[in-house]
Parts: sequence; C-alpha cells; structure tokens
Amino acid sequence: MSGFPKGFLWGGAIAANQTEGAYLEDGKGLTTVDLLPTRDKRFPVMLGKLSSYEPLESEFYPSHEAIDFYHRYKEDIALFAEMGFKTLRLSISWARIFPNGDDAEPNEAGLQFYDDVFDELKKHNIEPLVTLAHFDVPVNLVKEYGSWRNRKLVDLFETYARTVFTRYKDKVKYWLTFNEINMLLHLPFVGAGLVFGEGENEQQIKYQAAHHQLVASALAVKAGHEIIPDAMIGCMLAAGMTYPYSSNPDDVMDAMDKDRESFFFIDVQSRGEYPGYAKRFFQENGIELEMEENDANILKENTVDYIGFSYYSSRVTSTDPKVQENQTSGNVFGSIKNPYLETSEWGWTIDPKGLRITANQLYDRYQKPLFVVENGLGAVDVPNENGEVIDDYRIQYLQAHLKEMKEAIQDGVDILGYTSWGPIDIVSASTGEMKKRYGYIYVDRDNDGNGTLKRTKKKSFDWYKQVIKTNGEEL
Ligand code: BG6
Repeated sequence: MSGFPKGFLWGGAIAANQTEGAYLEDGKGLTTVDLLPTRDKRFPVMLGKLSSYEPLESEFYPSHEAIDFYHRYKEDIALFAEMGFKTLRLSISWARIFPNGDDAEPNEAGLQFYDDVFDELKKHNIEPLVTLAHFDVPVNLVKEYGSWRNRKLVDLFETYARTVFTRYKDKVKYWLTFNEINMLLHLPFVGAGLVFGEGENEQQIKYQAAHHQLVASALAVKAGHEIIPDAMIGCMLAAGMTYPYSSNPDDVMDAMDKDRESFFFIDVQSRGEYPGYAKRFFQENGIELEMEENDANILKENTVDYIGFSYYSSRVTSTDPKVQENQTSGNVFGSIKNPYLETSEWGWTIDPKGLRITANQLYDRYQKPLFVVENGLGAVDVPNENGEVIDDYRIQYLQAHLKEMKEAIQDGVDILGYTSWGPIDIVSASTGEMKKRYGYIYVDRDNDGNGTLKRTKKKSFDWYKQVIKTNGEEL
C-alpha cells in the first residue's frame, strides 16, 4: 500500500450539541450540554458540580444557538460537498428523539429532522457516520434517575438506539455508540451526565456508570446488527499515547497505567471482557461493580466492528514530583510538557508522529479497522481586511498529521477514513468558546453569541478540497 486506499472515507466531524442550536425547538428536550455555561463557569459543571437543572437567566449557554446548523444544514452540507466530502460524522441528539429520555413514544419532529439531514447528505453522495451519544444526556434522566449511575439508563438507551436504527436503517450504515467513552472519567457530567453530592465516592460512581455505558454500547451493537445487516458499529476513544518522561521503569509503568485507564473501555468493547488489570484496579481501590447475570455474555457476544478514535495530542508522564510540576495547560488528561514539541494556543501538544504511533498501537492491540474520527487544530482565526482567513497554521497542522496517517497505512494499519474535527467553526466542547476554531469554513460568531452566523471559506477550504480530490496524493 503506497498511499490511501481506494474508497477512503474523507470528511469532517461535528456533534449535535456543538452545531445545531434550536435547543428547545420542535419538541426537543433540554440536554446536559444546554446547562454548560462558558469559560471559567463551565469547568466545575463539567466535573459534576451542577447548581440548577434549568438554564439561569444570568448565564450565556453557547449550545442554545450554537452555529444554527438546525436551520442552515443545507447550506453547510453544500459547502462540505464542494470540498468533496465522502462522509460527514454527526451525532443525533437523544433529547430530540426522546425529549425526556423516558417518553413512551419518540418525537416525530426530531426524527424527521435527521431524516431531512440524511436525505440532504445523500443528495450530495455523502455517507453519514452517526454517533448515538456525543456528550449529551436528556436532563430529565439526570434529574429523575441520576443519569448513567442508574441501570435504568441501559434500557432507555437501548430503546433510543433501536428507534433510530429502525428509522434510518436504509440511510445510515456507519455508527458509533459513545463519543470518547473514556472522557467519562475526566469530565463525568460531559461524558455521562453525572452530578455528585457532597461526600459521594466519585470513583465508584464513575466506574458503575462506565459499566452501564459499556453494556448499553454492547446492546446497541446487538440491536444495530439485527436491524441493519450491513451496519458497521464502532466504539470511540479519546486517544493519544502516553510517553514516559524518562527510561526509569517507574515512568514506563506509569505511562502504561495511564494508557490503560483509557484502553480499559476499548478492551471491553472490542475484546468483550474486563481485562485483568482493571479487575485488579477495582479490587485495590475498593470499587465494587453491580453487574447483572447476563452482562458478561452481552459484552462477549457484541463486540464492535471497528475502533473510532480522536487524536489531538500525545501525553507525557513522570513519577518524579519535580518533573510533574511542568504541566501543559488546557488538556483535560493532564500532561507534562514535552520538551521536543510545540503546543497550540490552548496548550495542547502538537505531535503528528504521535498519530502514527497511536494508530499502530491501537491496531496492534485490537486488529480491527480503525477510523480517525477527530483530529484538528483549535486556533484563533482573524479575518484580514478583505474578510479572508489565511490559516496556513491549520494547513500545516493537518498536512503533518495526514502524512503520518499515510505512514501508518504503509505500516499495514487498516484505516477506513478520516474526519477532521469541526470542518466548520463550532462551539468548543471544553471551553464553550467560538474563538477556538477548527474549521475550513469561518462562522461569524463570537464567544458571547454576537455575529451574523455568515459562513466564509478559509484558505484551508481549497487545500482540503485538493487533498480529497487527489485521495491524499497532494497534501
Ligand atoms: C473531543 C470531542 O474531545 O474534542 C469534541 O469529541 C471536541 O466534542 C473536540 O469539540 C475538541 O475539543 P475542544 O474543546 O477544542 O472543542
């Protein structure tokens, strides 16, 4: 294999909560993300410290309007088509389909919206790649059941999954269950809608919620395979290898342990059982998981078809307290600054070769096709006097990563496709800002919700178009 395979799925990735807006339109219920304010007020909520189940008058919530994809999807999809997209990764908002999460019947207007979006994609020969849960849970499920800490969510999620598989069985073949499932351990409200009370054992609750999501994911795989015979249903990992800071075996062991915190999820989803190291970790940390009798079979019999992953950065770890002081900012995983690498304006390490290493590592471990479903540079874009954004820095970042992805393919790694994150500027998940832009398309909107929402092509638009046109021959 000298380059990208024929039929390689080039495209971009977005998520409902960061693009759609229309947060209560056509019967949609409130979702967890609709309770996330911006900047410094956002982080405590993401960690599970929620003060109100209703939006507050005094706060600005960027998801409420986002970039108004709900009303502008035709224009946006036409622009993606102009770049030659083969695929668009997007998510369905659970609360558009079941506004309260536990409703007896789905919301027809919500179902119709995604029908319309998928039809529009088809018109342009763009294959949808759909995430069932991208960082959103209907707020009612948080309030009434405690969200994913409660086993009940498994059934409700299965109902939701079966509903959308049945409705879209002729329109969508590629699916992902939970976006960045390992994020649950770092941002529990974002990953699983978890809200903690004073003095609760957070670690115990997080792993119980993780078990519920893992069972729900397996049941979704089962349902998908039953309803859509040629479906490809994957899991999704926030990936990025952890490097030991030194050759001290303690550092090497620490790096392995840090990676296993994330691999744990994919080991279960892809291999179908809890790995030994996880059982040991639970035992040593007093974590007792409640499991039902059939859970082990459900997990074993319904493993994923492929491994989706996001890649932005690699990480560095050390057991030396002195070295540990030198952290990079802005990365929820926490990392020591890598002395060999630059960081983005938000402190995220830029490591193109890390993508090749990570892809090889995942393929060695699972021997299943991979899909790079997120990658990109969050940067400040300033339009010049003619209103153009000359984003050479973004082109450079993507170019370097694509070169390394090509190397990984030459190493023998089976990669189905690449969807760069935020092909159009969208709301940042971690900060809620619009200023942190990833797109090939500029959206006129600022951090406080001002702007016309007008879409303008950046320099990278034509560059990516050429990449796709030449199937990655011209990077
Ligand atoms: C991933 C998420 O964590 O990274 C996306 O799946 C998110 O939802 C992306 O937007 C980039 O992070 P951020 O914080 O820069 O938006």
